[in-house]
Amino acid sequence: MEKGSTQRAEHATPGIIKDIDRMIDVVGQGWELLSAGGRPKKVRAAISDLVKTVGDADLVMDVLLTRKRSKGKFTNWERLYFTSSGLRWATPEVAAEHCARRMACGRIADLACGQGGQIIAFSSRCSEVVAIDKDPLNLFMADLNCIAMGADNVDLICGDSLSKAVSDRVGDVDHAFCDPARPPGSQERKLSELLPDPRDILKVYSGQVKGFCLEVPPYLSLDKVPFPCEAEYVSIDGRVNRLNLYTGDLARSTSTAVVLPGGDSISGESREIGPGRVDPAEIGGYLHELDPAVVKAGLVWKAVGGDSSPDLIELDRRRTMLSTGKDVLSPFFRGTYKYMGSAEDISTMIEMLNERGVGSVTLRWKIDPSDYWPVRNSIESKLSGKGKVQIFRYEDRYLIAEKIRPIHARKEK
Ligand SMILES: C[S@@+](CC[C@H](N)C(=O)[O-])C[C@H]1O[C@@H](n2cnc3c(N)ncnc32)[C@H](O)[C@@H]1O
Repeated sequence: MEKGSTQRAEHATPGIIKDIDRMIDVVGQGWELLSAGGRPKKVRAAISDLVKTVGDADLVMDVLLTRKRSKGKFTNWERLYFTSSGLRWATPEVAAEHCARRMACGRIADLACGQGGQIIAFSSRCSEVVAIDKDPLNLFMADLNCIAMGADNVDLICGDSLSKAVSDRVGDVDHAFCDPARPPGSQERKLSELLPDPRDILKVYSGQVKGFCLEVPPYLSLDKVPFPCEAEYVSIDGRVNRLNLYTGDLARSTSTAVVLPGGDSISGESREIGPGRVDPAEIGGYLHELDPAVVKAGLVWKAVGGDSSPDLIELDRRRTMLSTGKDVLSPFFRGTYKYMGSAEDISTMIEMLNERGVGSVTLRWKIDPSDYWPVRNSIESKLSGKGKVQIFRYEDRYLIAEKIRPIHARKEK
């Protein structure tokens, strides 16, 4: 399928508007009313006059209200079409763009395209996109999003990616992407829970694809992955967001960490560096919180410049700090703090905070959300200064530190 040659898919969405132009028109009218400050109840009444069934009105209202919530995920949110569940599973634009840059090629397949978050990004980096989803409603929304974004080189197929009919229709492609559905709330994180199971995707498509990117839950243990691949941990704004497994000609290393939105990345061999116990009395003047993607990828050793025994402080399973004597700038730090000292109990900490003119504290240890404000208010009620600090827990002490740099500070290039 060449650019500009998209043929609209046949939509068999039961109980919803089948005519895509009508859907665009009705959502457009509803969006105008909502954007002009119309109350949802009034907008719904107006929509109900325009469509045939309650199901259609429900769908249009869901799309309109979801659009408002999609602002943080997509730049062009005002033009896009997602249902609430589609938005929840959609690949955020910044991650989709990163993946599309890595996978750029002639012909690409998205084997579980959902409502199209990822295919929009593929469409501008690849000459042809073939996108499959077995859910007719998702495919309908994906079609609307392609139209909205002018993605006119996408062939949309409704069906089971693992079926012979679909794999034959996909044919030979350079690269294939699959972001499978996963059961909500699953804790086990097994490949067998994913739909489609990435192992089945490899079985069906290996002979017709040069390289895959298979997305799996970021807390899945790599011991459960039975095929050779590069594991790429991606963080967005300092939180691990995805784990992409690259195979074939897309695999360039064994382990990679990518920090978005900046896009800095490091790759290499994953190494365990057990954080040796750092005596709180010996913590250097600076504390740097490592981006969790770097920690998950086992690339702390590389992020700290190859130092084989860095002073690491593991605050909890997800948070590791590096202590240094001098200030260091790195895109792989989630934040940098000036270390001010440690206290063994809250009353000593309050004394130290008053000596340093502190008036506000952010509690950075694992604390029950219902306890957070009572504890913070009780500490702040005894402080008289104006300064702001962060308090971490390390072993049985409170570490006091002042944030001096926000997330992912980069060197001037
Ligand atoms: C997590 S969503 C994909 C979201 C997508 N990456 C996006 O950016 O919007 C997973 C999708 O896989 C689809 N799916 C599950 N099993 C499938 C199969 N065997 N064939 C095709 N699609 C499937 C589901 O219907 C769902 O839409």
